[in-house]
Amino acid sequence: MSITDVWTSKSRIFIDETKLMLEYIPSFLPHRRQQLEILASMFKLVLEKPGASCQKVILIGPVGTGKTVVCKYFGKNISDYAKQMDVNLLYIHVNCHKNRTLYAVMKYVSDKLKIPTPTRGFSTQELFRIIWSTLENKNSYLILTLDEIDYLISRSGGEVLYDIARVSDEFIEEEIRINFILVTRDVTSLVMLDESIKSSLLHNIINFNPYTAKEIYDILKARVTVEKAMREEAVSEDVYEIIGEIVGIDKGGKGDARLALEILWKAGKIAERQGLNHVTAEHVRIAYENIAPTLTKSSIDRLKKHEKIVLLAIAKRLQETGKTYISMGEVVNEYQLLCEIFNERPRKHTKIWEYIRTLSKLGIIVARLSGPGIRGKTTLVSIPAVSLEKLSKKLYRLLKE
Ligand SMILES: Nc1ncnc2c1ncn2[C@@H]1O[C@H](COP(=O)(O)OP(=O)(O)OP(=O)(O)O)[C@@H](O)[C@H]1O
Ligand SMILES: [Mg+2]
Repeated sequence: MSITDVWTSKSRIFIDETKLMLEYIPSFLPHRRQQLEILASMFKLVLEKPGASCQKVILIGPVGTGKTVVCKYFGKNISDYAKQMDVNLLYIHVNCHKNRTLYAVMKYVSDKLKIPTPTRGFSTQELFRIIWSTLENKNSYLILTLDEIDYLISRSGGEVLYDIARVSDEFIEEEIRINFILVTRDVTSLVMLDESIKSSLLHNIINFNPYTAKEIYDILKARVTVEKAMREEAVSEDVYEIIGEIVGIDKGGKGDARLALEILWKAGKIAERQGLNHVTAEHVRIAYENIAPTLTKSSIDRLKKHEKIVLLAIAKRLQETGKTYISMGEVVNEYQLLCEIFNERPRKHTKIWEYIRTLSKLGIIVARLSGPGIRGKTTLVSIPAVSLEKLSKKLYRLLKE
């Protein structure tokens, strides 16, 4: 295939890749209804009595928990809705990682409002005044999100928030034109603030928890089936499940939806390059290895001989059956066969369980109890994050040495 073929050929996997990118705002955000409802209720007053009060809300949550996308989604919805109610409510989203001083932030806002400002000559306060009076002249109100505010604080110190917190006091005689949404990954960045600011800010906190495997599953599935980023038939349930296993906070992951989307996208690209029309669990494993090489060579090298054999048994069964999970019964059978091949005396069940626990603790395998659908309770095991092909080859080689 020539490179122009790559560009002209129609993808059998993707419908619109950009819908998996960070900038895309989906039409629906699974598992963030509660956060959106709290935001909506906090800003209800701004719609009903614009100018009457200054809303300040803080969103807190670790990486990839949807803080940015929730703000943007909310901003778009509230400004659209305000228009219908004849309120001129604008939404501006500033990333403080890119604009690390209050001046840079104000400059960004004035550019967005199309206020002509010379590059030099204004102080931050003056710029702020100009923005305020522009809003006044246009009878507009603003919701300003300061995303990743930690960067602004670390550069400019706590006074930044002091200024923000005081906005409402300073302009007490006037209508309030600006409301704030502040976004941070953790509270520690706010600890250095003095009590008066804290008290004004900290009773409006909305928390974002890391996503569970099931939540990741729903988010990915919605990207495909609702947003139509990929062909529905090209992505099987296994793919969503296995990414959930890798990323879900309840499975030892970070609960980061950004990583989950990146894995899905990469897995799709690998399948596409192989000329296939569907993504498999193995594509996911290869994609994840690419993004975050978790298993250092030595962690496999350092396993005991029978741990290696058990791991090989799991990898082989998963590979041969194409399933995401296999039962312990299958593992034990395969393990005993492999022991014969390698001329080893098979260890007892209790020992095998011990190996399973070790492998699981090391994050190489995931073990869980079977859910409904399978009679009785049995333990199921899976290898979500490493290519089975590479892993088996490596284990064979090590065991033969
Ligand atoms: N509930 C959700 N539904 C759909 N997509 C989501 C959801 N949560 C997060 N995402 C997607 O996951 C990615 C990461 O989300 P986002 O950028 O909002 O995380 P964040 O909390 O701002 O992370 P960071 O602290 O690193 O900035 C984005 O592509 C976003 O669209
Ligand atoms: Mg963000």
